Amino acid sequence: MLETVRGWIREARHIAVLTGAGMSAESGVPTFRDAQTGLWSQFNPQELATEAAFRAHPQRVWDWYAHRREMIAGVAPNAGHVALAAFEQRHPGRLTLITQNVDGLHQRAGHTNALALHGNIADDRWLDAPRACCRVDAIEAGRPPRCPVCGNLRRPAVVWFGEHLPTVALEAAEQAARHCELMLVVGTSGEVYPAAGLALTAHQCGARVVIVNPEVTPLDAVAELCLRQPAALCLPLLLA
Ligand code: APR
Repeated sequence: MLETVRGWIREARHIAVLTGAGMSAESGVPTFRDAQTGLWSQFNPQELATEAAFRAHPQRVWDWYAHRREMIAGVAPNAGHVALAAFEQRHPGRLTLITQNVDGLHQRAGHTNALALHGNIADDRWLDAPRACCRVDAIEAGRPPRCPVCGNLRRPAVVWFGEHLPTVALEAAEQAARHCELMLVVGTSGEVYPAAGLALTAHQCGARVVIVNPEVTPLDAVAELCLRQPAALCLPLLLA
């Protein structure tokens, strides 16, 4: 099966890769839903990762992100991230990488143009539309930091439940899904839309879809092949 997919990779003029939390599992990043340990085990992530939660409990949500940021800063890209970045460098313009992950590990592996559909946990932005007084060079430290004049808060620049995805990245991802000849779907449960819909689009537009995931997912239904392997093992074999 691996050899078949390697042949498809060689043939395809354009390849799209959609990654999810499983991509970073072997780096030691717990998936979003598995990330609740210790102090945080009493909270449901779906109740922390919303704008309403942040407005109601800004310090709690800020601290939860600080905890995840610290954990992510202590891990490294795995062989799967490295294989994807090396492929992009060897074949400029042939591969579009679309990720739901906010951990920045694709970027740290050297990927320069990953489409980060859910943002990046390392970045902040203003909670409310910034006024003239909201200057990034004059932020008051705190949990969360704020504008010392109007009190506008800084928040993690990730896409929370119920929020829109960044338009430019989503449009570029949809275009890649429509035009690719092969889509690799790596380490995602395929349950969160609109990201999961990209695999359906690719399939409807005639691309081959290949899943890399040790577990069964709903997207298997549109896949030509499912490789039941962990990403850090499988991607280097496929992309070498
Ligand atoms: N290699 C490949 N896949 C793996 C590995 C691995 N080593 N380990 C686990 N997986 C698979 C699991 O079988 C599962 O299907 O990764 C998937 C992880 O699923 P989720 O935790 O649901 O992650 P994801 O699909 O990325 O979630 C989508 O939902 O929580 C929100 O915004 C968050 O971006 C996230 C989105």
